[in-house]
Amino acid sequence: MTNCVVGIIPNINIYQRTDIFIYKILHSFVRRVPYTPLLATPARRHKFGAERDKKLTKAFDCRIILVMDQQKQIVILGIESSCDETAAAVVADGRRIISNVVLSQIDIHRLYGGVVPEIASRNHVQAIDKVVAQALSEASLTPADIDAVAVTYGAGLVGALLVGVSYAKGLAQALGKPLVAVNHIEGHICANYLTYPDLTPPYVCLLTSGGHTAIVNVRNYDEYDVVCSTVDDAVGEAFDKVARVLGLPYPGGPQIDKLAQQGKPVYKFHSVVTSNGNFSYSGLKTAVINLLHNAQQKGEQLSRADVAASFTCAAIDGLLDRLVAEVEQSGAKTVAVAGGVGANSYLRGRLQRLEGKGLRVCLPKLSLCGDNAAMIASRAYYMYCDNQFADLSLNACPTLKLRGEKPHR
Ligand code: KG4
Ligand code: ZN
Repeated sequence: MTNCVVGIIPNINIYQRTDIFIYKILHSFVRRVPYTPLLATPARRHKFGAERDKKLTKAFDCRIILVMDQQKQIVILGIESSCDETAAAVVADGRRIISNVVLSQIDIHRLYGGVVPEIASRNHVQAIDKVVAQALSEASLTPADIDAVAVTYGAGLVGALLVGVSYAKGLAQALGKPLVAVNHIEGHICANYLTYPDLTPPYVCLLTSGGHTAIVNVRNYDEYDVVCSTVDDAVGEAFDKVARVLGLPYPGGPQIDKLAQQGKPVYKFHSVVTSNGNFSYSGLKTAVINLLHNAQQKGEQLSRADVAASFTCAAIDGLLDRLVAEVEQSGAKTVAVAGGVGANSYLRGRLQRLEGKGLRVCLPKLSLCGDNAAMIASRAYYMYCDNQFADLSLNACPTLKLRGEKPHR
């Protein structure tokens, strides 16, 4: 598709001219070299838009990317409501957080031992307007100052996602601003850009969230190569389920983390790495349940802290062993972590010890490991620069996969 440079046309508002005039200019620039054409600033493109882009793309058998005005920073309002956090943030140029507001519903869902989807949706509806207003006010900006509205459209709970998606569509339409639809998992990966403003792809990312577990080669902002992933439960899900068996409140991950620090990994479990190099967490969860039941039947008292420490080692060691193998095999110079389990102290400690000998280890700030909207705005920046906008037909996609992720057979 991308097989010619049409031309670099600085400081020309080409979209204000007629199509014919544009074609005339572009014809004079045509070269058969393997680059994409640079055409217009994002704001212009949004205004005059998609239809003309399509004509140009067809006429020149090329792809359109945008010329960024070096002086102007791009400010994006991100909105996140995929699970039990209502969040909004303002981020400049994908890297600098201007404001970051997260309203957690954990206290509400704790009563039920987990997230109740219907209750989550209702609370998002009540909170979203205030959370967005707070994010703008903390950034000392008005809605008119932002360049685009970005929103998580999947993966997540359908009702919860729909609250953010509907709100963002309405806001973008009312303000006449572009809308960017962000994949939540891609957002988690971008939390690293907010912590390490100099980090750029390629790198290997360990994805460890409540719904996803994978090792991903991040080749570019848009290109992910999933090396391996879980065939059943995600690692965060395993933490939450084992916590429940241990009688710990929701969400279980941080609770197990605390308890494990008081125990020793005296119980040995099977590796979570499968024979073909993927991950499986349902067996580990069952092994912990069996350990506790057997002890109970024998009237033995196990140390819950030792069980938590043993489970943590088994859950994390397999992930890190597989990560190290991938780094050795690919020769990667940088690894990054993404998702809620990235806050785990054992995982962070082990990863920090890997740093050195030519390997850089990136761990997002603790406040950016869990769900937040700053990571969504960061991801959206790279989509904005690449002309990837959504329209009002945008819908929630609860089972959205990471680009490059293939289902297990
Ligand atoms: O990435 P995330 O916020 O949500 C999804 O996108 O799924 O991850 C939430 C998961 C939960 O399962 C939670 O228990 C786990 O991350 N988690 C932790 C820790 N903090 C959060 N797991 C282990 N140790 C932690 N410190
Ligand atoms: Zn998440």
